[in-house]
Amino acid sequence: MSNVVIPEEVSKRRTFAIISHPDAGKTTITEKVLLFGQALQKAGTVKGKKSGQHAKSDWMEMEKDRGISITTSVMQFPYSGALVNLLDTPGHEDFSEDTYRTLTAVDSCLMVIDSAKGVEARTIKLMEVTRLRDTPIVTFMNKLDRDIRDPIELMDEVEDILKMACAPITWPIGSGKEFKGVYHILRDEVILYENNKGHTIQDSVIIKGLANPELDEAIGHVADDLREELELVLGAAHEFDHDAFLKGELTPVYFGTALGNFGVDHILDGIVEWAPRPLPREADVREVKPTDEKFSGFVFKIQANMDPKHRDRVAFMRVCSGEYRQGMKMHHVRLNKNVNVSDALTFMAGDRERAATAYPGDIIGLHNHGTIRIGDAFTEGEKLRFTGIPNFAPELFRRIRLRDPLKQKQLLKGLVQLSEEGAVQVFRPLDSNDLIVGAVGVLQFEVVVGRLKTEYNVEAIYEAISVATARWVYAEDELKLEDFRKKCSTNLALDGGNNLTYIAPSMVNLNLSIERYPDIQFAKTREN
Ligand code: G4P
Repeated sequence: MSNVVIPEEVSKRRTFAIISHPDAGKTTITEKVLLFGQALQKAGTVKGKKSGQHAKSDWMEMEKDRGISITTSVMQFPYSGALVNLLDTPGHEDFSEDTYRTLTAVDSCLMVIDSAKGVEARTIKLMEVTRLRDTPIVTFMNKLDRDIRDPIELMDEVEDILKMACAPITWPIGSGKEFKGVYHILRDEVILYENNKGHTIQDSVIIKGLANPELDEAIGHVADDLREELELVLGAAHEFDHDAFLKGELTPVYFGTALGNFGVDHILDGIVEWAPRPLPREADVREVKPTDEKFSGFVFKIQANMDPKHRDRVAFMRVCSGEYRQGMKMHHVRLNKNVNVSDALTFMAGDRERAATAYPGDIIGLHNHGTIRIGDAFTEGEKLRFTGIPNFAPELFRRIRLRDPLKQKQLLKGLVQLSEEGAVQVFRPLDSNDLIVGAVGVLQFEVVVGRLKTEYNVEAIYEAISVATARWVYAEDELKLEDFRKKCSTNLALDGGNNLTYIAPSMVNLNLSIERYPDIQFAKTREN
């Protein structure tokens, strides 16, 4: 008998992450998204309250009572008939390889842009990662309550730099002190903005139809300016095209202010309507479909010390097929071992709850005592390995040295294990006894020294080293690789898994080597 629950549950799921440059508004949007999601809806107290201040204290009370924290890694909430999973992408000091890898575990992304600034560096980097799977992107131009750059210029910048066509779904009416709201192009309605309502779900004033005289009453002469501007914009801009969106070639663009909680529901509506349902995942032996009856999932992130009181480590797994049931037996493919999973975690709006069931697109947390690694697959017995969960070339490097030189062996063991877990990467140059630690985010260096001390009892310190970047190197022709190995040995190292890596002192050096050795591939990512 086939299970009809799985396809039904799959069709409800939307799993996405936010990509943005620090300070663009990711945290604020997450907060508002939760406001629309279950968190405050369930309480049912906020909607319709007149005083914004009152609602704010409700929110803070809720946060205390239910332990809702916007720093939580995964949040699940119902919205408009769907079940939305929002995965956090660590952003500021906690930016790390996990941020990149989280993007391989989602089906779509919301890109948040500070409209006063435009496309910034971190966004460009994160977009590169989404390109690995051509992930569909929804765009939110944030901070419309401030003076912003010309909206057309902002969209041009996305098109030029990120190589994605822009299809405006809403269009802003003014900005800064003169921000009046947006025109929803597809719904043909104007939604008016009210100041100081950011802590509530607003009952917005909606005016149907651009020609509606109510619009002139509401915003005066600006109405005519808007009509003129829209004629221009609609003539020049791309129309929304669902297929192009699903291929990652076109992004629907929304305008609003996260702080004013204006426009966030428009994005959520768009995600629920257009974003892909949990997608099939490639594995070495076959494609795994979400509606397959047997359970499978892969680990994309391991978080140490989520609760500082219990030094537990949680492995985050994306469910890819079938159904997770509490107490089920899972097969840990790499270890060829069956494990009983009685206490997986789900992440309902910030509370760590015990999951009774979970479906494709959902994330569950497994307690991990050091046996689980990034990329590990869990199944109901089938031997398979999911692809597309790479390691990313680090961007920051330091030489690591022991205070007590007698503990070199422990240091190496600790570093190799931490690198297997995905916390950091370690490189051993072919020509020296140095140990180089590479990371994507700066906080990882501290984490590594802390964990080396508590878990491996070694005290290590860092020294600066002149390394700009690293690339994994491959060649079809063994002889050519051998020749390259000899000629460039001063720049070559082995990583934690003994993979040959080119350690470049500068980008110029890297580019020269790429030119000089055309038969060698220099890869920015590496699959286990
Ligand atoms: P992040 O997670 O992407 O880093 O951004 P976050 O939400 O923390 O927002 C960064 C700052 O921008 C915050 O100010 C936040 O209130 C503000 N912000 C977010 N959305 C909007 C918006 O729509 N309009 C305006 N005007 N501000 C917005 P903050 O915490 O007070 O930092 P700061 O202003 O003191 O630097």
